[in-house]
Amino acid sequence: MCYKSETDLKNTRILSSDPVIVITTIDKNGVPNTAAVGSYLRIGSTIIIAIHEESHTYHNILETREFVANVPGLKDLESIMRVSRDYPKGVDEIKASGLRAEPSLKVKPPTIVEYPASVECQLKWTKPEGTHALLAGEMICGKCDDAYLDPMGHFDQVKAGVLHIVRYPDPVYIVADRYVQGIEQMK
Ligand SMILES: Cc1cc2nc3c(=O)[nH]c(=O)nc-3n(C[C@H](O)[C@H](O)[C@H](O)COP(=O)(O)O)c2cc1C
Repeated sequence: MCYKSETDLKNTRILSSDPVIVITTIDKNGVPNTAAVGSYLRIGSTIIIAIHEESHTYHNILETREFVANVPGLKDLESIMRVSRDYPKGVDEIKASGLRAEPSLKVKPPTIVEYPASVECQLKWTKPEGTHALLAGEMICGKCDDAYLDPMGHFDQVKAGVLHIVRYPDPVYIVADRYVQGIEQMK
């Protein structure tokens, strides 16, 4: 027997997010910017991120129409707070966070070297949503450290230890721990 009582959604955070990503963008002078993002949705090749309208990230994406979703792993846990600090405009936030940048494949914003994987995106549309804006991007290509590619060519999320933030803004995460095989398959 299972009896469920109503809970406060804000406190229970029953639906928490996909793995935390760190968005890299550049401003109009080419200076790199970073922001951790936990609120996003993927549908096919589209990613929709919820981003605060006052953030540098929002302004940079509107200006340059490009961004990179970098995926930190367990070894990168501490950097998530560093990339999310409120740096003054014009600061190279990748460098300020103690990370390194490398050129992306198809977009101008750089990729974070230390992180296991990344997805390069081009802006499709934006929509205001309360205090945030929804920004939809087309995911045009991805990069993955060979050390985190399994024999089938999948990004090994367990080996990387991708992180799900579950009590935001408290820095409490669930880390991917193992794969389990389900039954049947969607056609
Ligand atoms: C784990 C984590 C998840 C976050 N998720 C979001 C998010 O989904 N949307 C958002 O606007 N800010 C989010 N933030 C806050 C931004 O990373 C933070 O405000 C950052 O300073 C914005 O940087 P910018 O002004 O350089 O763009 C998150 C922060 C952390 C630590």
